[in-house]
Amino acid sequence: MRYFRKIVGERLYLSPFSADDSEICTQWARWMNDRTVADHFGGHHQLVSLAGAKKPLEELKGYRFAMVLLDGDTLIGQISLHDIDHVHRNAFLGIVIGEEKHRGKGYGAEAIRLILDYGFHTLNLHSVMLSVPADNPAGIACYKKVGFREAGRRREWVFKNGKYVDKIYMDMLAREFGEVGPSP
Ligand SMILES: CC(C)(COP(=O)(O)OP(=O)(O)OC[C@H]1O[C@@H](n2cnc3c(N)ncnc32)[C@H](O)[C@@H]1OP(=O)(O)O)[C@@H](O)C(=O)NCCC(=O)NCCS
Repeated sequence: MRYFRKIVGERLYLSPFSADDSEICTQWARWMNDRTVADHFGGHHQLVSLAGAKKPLEELKGYRFAMVLLDGDTLIGQISLHDIDHVHRNAFLGIVIGEEKHRGKGYGAEAIRLILDYGFHTLNLHSVMLSVPADNPAGIACYKKVGFREAGRRREWVFKNGKYVDKIYMDMLAREFGEVGPSP
């Protein structure tokens, strides 16, 4: 059994994983070399080899999960709460769904609700923040759907495809969780 049903939703579950897992590293390298993914991480200029894929997975401090479909135990992405500050009780959220065929089906929103529930109600976080390039309308729509609000932006912060793009910061407080969409 490669994945563990740590946090279970309706269509997917979140599983702990190890950076030594070859499937995770191979998929991560594949996804990070796919411009439809990498363009949204500010790492589109980087070359990610198989060995190079392991390093960021090892270095990411916090709670990171594989996103796995209940139907067939298929790995579709990763989601994390990282850079956690236990004094101020805040954290950053990161998410990627690797294959285009799995995007736009509500898996992102489901996984975010699951990890926020865990963050607010198990880890006792107070605030969760994320950043998204302004040219990622699917990401912005997904985050708003779950209840994130824009907290600010760095103007013309990201350079890609010959243009500068704003980087938007969005956040949610614990008391706001569940105000939008299905209740936790
Ligand atoms: C961003 C991401 C995590 C969102 O997950 P997802 O499962 O695709 O998102 P959802 O299906 O829950 O929601 C996406 C919403 O965006 C909407 N959308 C899609 N394309 C859009 C566009 N071009 N303009 C506006 N809205 C758009 C969808 O209609 C959907 O809203 P709806 O459910 O109200 O119809 C996923 O698409 C992804 O990993 N993309 C590639 C990497 C990435 O962008 N990572 C995030 C970096 S900040």
